[in-house]
Amino acid sequence: MNQIPDTIKAYLAGKTYTLDTIGMSGSQILLFPDMVLKIQSASAEAEREVQMMQWCLGKLPVPRVLAYEVQEQVSYLLMTRAEGKMSCDASYMEQPEVLTEMLADGLKRLWQVDMTACPCHQMLAQKLKAAEQNVKQGLVDFDNVAPETFGPEGFADPQALLDWLYANQPVEEPVLSHGDFCLPNVFGKGNQVSGYIDLGRGGVADKWQDIALCYRSLRDNYGERYGEKQDTGFSPELLFEKLGIAPDWEKIRYYILLDELF
Ligand SMILES: Nc1ncnc2c1ncn2[C@@H]1O[C@H](COP(=O)(O)OP(=O)(O)OP(=O)(O)O)[C@@H](O)[C@H]1O
Ligand SMILES: [Mg+2]
Repeated sequence: MNQIPDTIKAYLAGKTYTLDTIGMSGSQILLFPDMVLKIQSASAEAEREVQMMQWCLGKLPVPRVLAYEVQEQVSYLLMTRAEGKMSCDASYMEQPEVLTEMLADGLKRLWQVDMTACPCHQMLAQKLKAAEQNVKQGLVDFDNVAPETFGPEGFADPQALLDWLYANQPVEEPVLSHGDFCLPNVFGKGNQVSGYIDLGRGGVADKWQDIALCYRSLRDNYGERYGEKQDTGFSPELLFEKLGIAPDWEKIRYYILLDELF
């Protein structure tokens, strides 16, 4: 708490918090009863998170930015707390019909937003350049990569995957995209979305970017990748039924593979 900038400390005086341990990207999350402080390394993504939240306010249920400061290469984002329950909360996981309806609602509401004036762009032209930077700088996070992506059955290394992604770009259908549409980043109340968080990769992008990561997150949260192995009989394909869209498996595979380089 010592290093927290004074402008932000002023909001926190006398309030107690708990530490959240869900985030995978090395950020520190302090949960206050009605606010959240996200502390992470300063980066373009951290800046975009603030920009996206401000741009989406009034259009979609997103937290309100209360204060944002960068001090000594560290970014401090104080925001309101999202309403509802996280999609991977047990109460949702036990009700796959409601969960997939809520996630489908979350996707469809994004697509209804007129994104022509959106300040952030995440089309493949931008995404692949960012992926290339990550590959060059050795920033690919191997701890969070699916075991089959690299190795005998997969790509030789991140560069080989990048080359494949450049050579196999699908036709894009631009919409407003969350950018990291996984269960811990979407909050809901019943079958409706009540909060989108972690918007640093959001912006104008192909519709299938979010569908792909939502599908993967459903599959992984019900499967054996996170937590205990469960045999729930749940099929993540239920998402497509709720969306009323047939799965485009080539695009889904493409965007899941692209995400391995972030
Ligand atoms: N505004 C908020 N309201 C409620 N909970 C929040 C809020 N911001 C963060 N959290 C909680 O903290 C967790 C991690 O936050 P966030 O996703 O922003 O961090 P992250 O480190 O970028 O995560 P990751 O990279 O794993 O997606 C969320 O999944 C959520 O449980
Ligand atoms: Mg997150």
